[in-house]
Amino acid sequence: MNNFFHKNRSHIDLEKVQKIVNENKTKYRNINNKNFISMLEKLSNIQIESFNPVIKDQIKISSDESNEIKQIAKSLGNWRKGPFYLGDLHIDSEWRSDIKWNRLSPHIPSLKNKTILDIGCNNGYFMFEMLRQGPSAVLGIDPVTYCEAQFKFLNYFCQSPKLFFEMLGINEVKYFKDLFEVIFNMGIIYHHPNPIEQLIHCREALKKNGFMILESIVIAGEQSIALFPEDRYARMRNVWFIPTVNCMKNWLHKAKFKNIEIIFNEPLTGQEQRVTRWSASASLEDFLDPDDPTKTIEGHPSPRRAALIAYN
Ligand SMILES: C[S@@+](CC[C@H](N)C(=O)[O-])C[C@H]1O[C@@H](n2cnc3c(N)ncnc32)[C@H](O)[C@@H]1O
Repeated sequence: MNNFFHKNRSHIDLEKVQKIVNENKTKYRNINNKNFISMLEKLSNIQIESFNPVIKDQIKISSDESNEIKQIAKSLGNWRKGPFYLGDLHIDSEWRSDIKWNRLSPHIPSLKNKTILDIGCNNGYFMFEMLRQGPSAVLGIDPVTYCEAQFKFLNYFCQSPKLFFEMLGINEVKYFKDLFEVIFNMGIIYHHPNPIEQLIHCREALKKNGFMILESIVIAGEQSIALFPEDRYARMRNVWFIPTVNCMKNWLHKAKFKNIEIIFNEPLTGQEQRVTRWSASASLEDFLDPDDPTKTIEGHPSPRRAALIAYN
């Protein structure tokens, strides 16, 4: 059991949570994972003082070590979230997550000494950003193997005892009660068939007066409505509802959140999501109608991104 679970055991249904972590680990114990584990073992040859991988220009790494680090990083799957800086090595991920963070962070109350949950944390990009503010602990959950592998790789350099990663998903948030002061729920809600139930579970996982940042793809429009695509949306499978920003606000209201405010609501551009040498070979540009970028390739309204803050 990790220290975070141990310390907070009275707020967690540990039996259920541990069972799902074990099931997910078994489910994903495949070829990829074996490669990831053997590549991650190679990290122990590299000894350098700890640093935060989202901060640029803070550490020099010898060229031999830099080559080895690059080889390990490249073996851990496509890099969707970033950028990261490991000495001269720049992991230029598909998403410029720093753009999202810069839009959000001026509007987020201080994270100092806070206990935080990041749902669908991917490789932990935002956890490393949160760490800069001195939280008490950040638990990142993501059930996908390459995300865990990339997080372990990054945290090898950071060695932070405040960051915890577990292979859990949004459906396990209901096993946490009255525990977190802050929850980040970003890029998750449109993958869920029951958005309001998801939000209620998040609110119940928050302490009184705790807050959540809810960030999602949204469509343009003033009405409180959501698109319900028959099949794919911008080539993505497993998409249920794509709301307008006012619909998200209404969902939060229905889930009994308070003091709900919109932080941003902007079109998604190729500056924020694009093909790089570290990404897969297709990205946003390939998911939009080439003759009309206000539409996705399937003819739906093209994606915007919006974020709201809401309190328990
Ligand atoms: C669109 S990305 C968002 C990543 C990050 N939160 C951000 O805002 O950039 C969705 C993330 O959810 C993760 N994911 C997949 N299934 C999930 C589940 N059942 N529960 C929570 N996260 C899941 C994916 O691995 C991926 O990292």
